[in-house]
Amino acid sequence: MKISIIGTGHVGLVTGACFAEKGHDVLCADSDAEKISRLRSGVMPFFEPGLDGIVKKHSAAGRLKFGTSVSEAVRHGQAIFISVWTPPLKTGKADLSFVENVCREIAGSLRAGERRLIVEKSTVPVNTARRVLDTLNRYASRDASFSVASNPEFLREGTAVEDTLKPDRIVFGVADAESERTLREIYSAFNAPIIVTDVASAELIKHASNSFLAMKISFINAVSLICEHSGADVTRVAEGMGMDHRIQRAFLNAGIGYGGSCFPKDVSAFIDISRELGYEFRLLEEVERINRDMRTHFFRKIERELWILKGKKIAALGLSFKPGTDDMRMAPSLTVIEELMKEGAAVSAFDPVSIPAARAAFGEKGIREGGLLSFASSAEEACAGAEAVCVFTEWPEIVQADWKTIGESVRTRIVFDGRNCLDATALRAAGWTVKGMGRPMA
Ligand code: UGA
Repeated sequence: MKISIIGTGHVGLVTGACFAEKGHDVLCADSDAEKISRLRSGVMPFFEPGLDGIVKKHSAAGRLKFGTSVSEAVRHGQAIFISVWTPPLKTGKADLSFVENVCREIAGSLRAGERRLIVEKSTVPVNTARRVLDTLNRYASRDASFSVASNPEFLREGTAVEDTLKPDRIVFGVADAESERTLREIYSAFNAPIIVTDVASAELIKHASNSFLAMKISFINAVSLICEHSGADVTRVAEGMGMDHRIQRAFLNAGIGYGGSCFPKDVSAFIDISRELGYEFRLLEEVERINRDMRTHFFRKIERELWILKGKKIAALGLSFKPGTDDMRMAPSLTVIEELMKEGAAVSAFDPVSIPAARAAFGEKGIREGGLLSFASSAEEACAGAEAVCVFTEWPEIVQADWKTIGESVRTRIVFDGRNCLDATALRAAGWTVKGMGRPMA
């Protein structure tokens, strides 16, 4: 089928490439002309394992094209997926102005006699589709024919291609049988259970799912604090809890908390839309608070152990909000490193792929390289001469680094493992003080 995707962020580009992989004829449009010209020459706008391979393969085969024009996208696709960003405003509310702008442009390009299915792919608050429909009705010509559906995405950064090609479930929120038929045809080659709902329920499934996962993380992080006070080990607690099939082990890894562009944004947008609809979602407010506090807790742990931070070199290993991505958005490393530098510590940071993104993220905060912040090209280099090592992201390159060499080159063998990813027993046997999260001796 001919499909158009508007917005080539993580969701849009991966979805477009995966539709092409399933045999569809896809046009991805984005208003950023520079990004489109780079994509045309095979340069990916972000790091995502496996993505450049399928983008290049299908671009070469002519099944995946790139453009900058919404009207071209409307002419091309029988279905048009909106996957522009919906960033948080200062209030926590989702900024839907990009969605509205695209809808107005789509409306202006719809033609009589050419039915189009407009699909919400971006994560949006419940009832956004109603607004999308109103906007299309307001700005399209009277004889234009279209429907609006919701088809939320559940891909994770770092495993986005695999998640899209082999999803746990596919959600169709539709208002009519023809929309369902079109979506079923698009997904006919995907081997996954499909749930068909009304449009509002589909929108809610996305916010409720992300918020539930964030709640699991904050729950186990709160339990990790009890573990630290009681001498229990949160990893064993999570294991024991997870053996109950009603609970499940996934997303019970305690640590310095969640980051990224999704959970922080979606939890606050869900709180906001709930309030607008008349419900104070205090449970989720607490999820956010616990998540924020974990960063402070981690910083205090370092401060308690090292006493004076001023003038001390501290190695920061892993900067992105999780492994497998160079995304620095809301990464816990940013907050903690900034606090360390405020206290006068010199931070030497390493990440296998995120250093350019980290430079930009620190730059936005007015923190430049040089002075107290430097970047190293390996974990070993970052740790040489350090008074302590902090692990923020469980990259394999960090977990499997040469800890023997690191142990020989640090000033003092103290490591703060913010992800409980290191072999604490082996490190302790090699003379390290290991401070994990919610574990004995943490
Ligand atoms: C998340 C969801 O998992 C996807 O299903 C969803 O499609 C996506 O948001 C989205 O809305 O687009 P993502 O943000 O890529 O995906 O990353 P996750 O793997 O969910 O991790 C999020 C954060 O939680 C990371 O900082 C990670 O370190 C943290 N986390 C995860 C924990 O602290 N503990 C855990 O047990 C699991």
